[in-house]
Amino acid sequence: MPQLLGIRIRNYKSLSDVTLGQIAYAQGDALPPINCFIGPNGSGKSTLLDAFGFLADCLKEGVESACDKSQRGGLSRLRTQGNTDSICFDLHYREDQESLPILYSFTVGDDKGIPVVLNEVLVGLTMDQDTSHPIAFMRLQGGEGVIWSGDMSKIVAGAEGQRVKLEDKDRLGISTLGQLSDHPLIVCLRAYIESWYLSYFVPDAARRLPPTGAQKHLDRTGENLGNVIQYLERNHNSRFNLILERIRERIPGIKDIKTQLSPDGRLLLKFNESSYKDPFFQQSMSDGTLKMFAYLLLLQDPDPPAFIGIEEPENGLYHKLLETLAREFRRHAENSQGKIQVIITTHSPYFVDALSPEQVWLLEKDDLGHTQITRTADMPAIKELVKEGIPLGSLWYSNHFEERSLG
Ligand SMILES: Nc1ncnc2c1ncn2[C@@H]1O[C@H](COP(=O)(O)OP(=O)(O)O)[C@@H](O)[C@H]1O
Ligand SMILES: [Mg+2]
Repeated sequence: MPQLLGIRIRNYKSLSDVTLGQIAYAQGDALPPINCFIGPNGSGKSTLLDAFGFLADCLKEGVESACDKSQRGGLSRLRTQGNTDSICFDLHYREDQESLPILYSFTVGDDKGIPVVLNEVLVGLTMDQDTSHPIAFMRLQGGEGVIWSGDMSKIVAGAEGQRVKLEDKDRLGISTLGQLSDHPLIVCLRAYIESWYLSYFVPDAARRLPPTGAQKHLDRTGENLGNVIQYLERNHNSRFNLILERIRERIPGIKDIKTQLSPDGRLLLKFNESSYKDPFFQQSMSDGTLKMFAYLLLLQDPDPPAFIGIEEPENGLYHKLLETLAREFRRHAENSQGKIQVIITTHSPYFVDALSPEQVWLLEKDDLGHTQITRTADMPAIKELVKEGIPLGSLWYSNHFEERSLG
């Protein structure tokens, strides 16, 4: 699975121009497997997560529908206020740990008020001895341009591409051209972005009794929690037992979790607690237990999403569980050999305590109201204090993160 090395976002709400990680070959550090974003209310944390959602929606549904989602309210509200420039995304990634980086960029502007894709470029690199050369795979402007077929190893600089004209300026080229088997790079990028999982876990959604039926992956709100358990029970039984063992260790008091069919064919989740004889069903479980359970399940997915985004996992969780959860996310992402990347927003120092300065980013607004992002590893005093053994969250809590002189 591809791995995100860095991203630059321009003119998306308060993200007037922000860069995370590496957006050009060998320049700066690539994004680590886990990234946590902290900062005051209104500093742009939710916006950042939504920018990833917007990008994925542009691919899946087209740019007009992505702009018009109810939480976004149309293109004019998405552009950075006071600015009519296009929204730009630069995504720097590699297909796997061995391959060279690829840059995918697109811009969204308007055509007589209707959102359209203005430019779209997919450029890879080849190495000639120690020098890297860009190799274009796709260059489109206003839906017209050239694509080159082949993969990273086959394509040669200067090769003649194929002229293309997209039917619909609402759609990204990688969405309409990605079907073709002679464009493996496009197919791979599309599958990658489509697999992004942005969680908005709602405990009440997980309490509903879904109709029975096994489902492979957890949905955004956790509504199909029971269906995923049914899938794991049926298809990955030994793994499921291992998952339960892990969950028992991490959620105190839980002895066992099983599924049961209700008389009207819906799925009950049966939680056995150590102090009670009779089980409890999902309706009676606490928000925190359900949430912890859902996150642990997500991480134990036999085929986990390559990219996971989570907003404020702390809501409803006891602080000790939260630290456990942070360590669990970190361990999974770091041990996945580039297969899982996680981004999380939080207000909790307990969560941040489990992370290193390379994994934590501080968001603030400057005088213009634009979000500025600083990696805590780039704050000189912080690395030293962490080396001395002070956890990062405590430093944050005790005001050691110097506010930048924003202006
Ligand atoms: N179009 C826009 N241009 C510039 N800033 C915006 C725009 N839309 C919203 N904002 C700013 O973004 C803020 C909301 O940011 P948000 O990501 O929800 O913050 P957080 O999640 O960190 O609390 C608003 O308070 C507003 O200042
Ligand atoms: Mg928020």
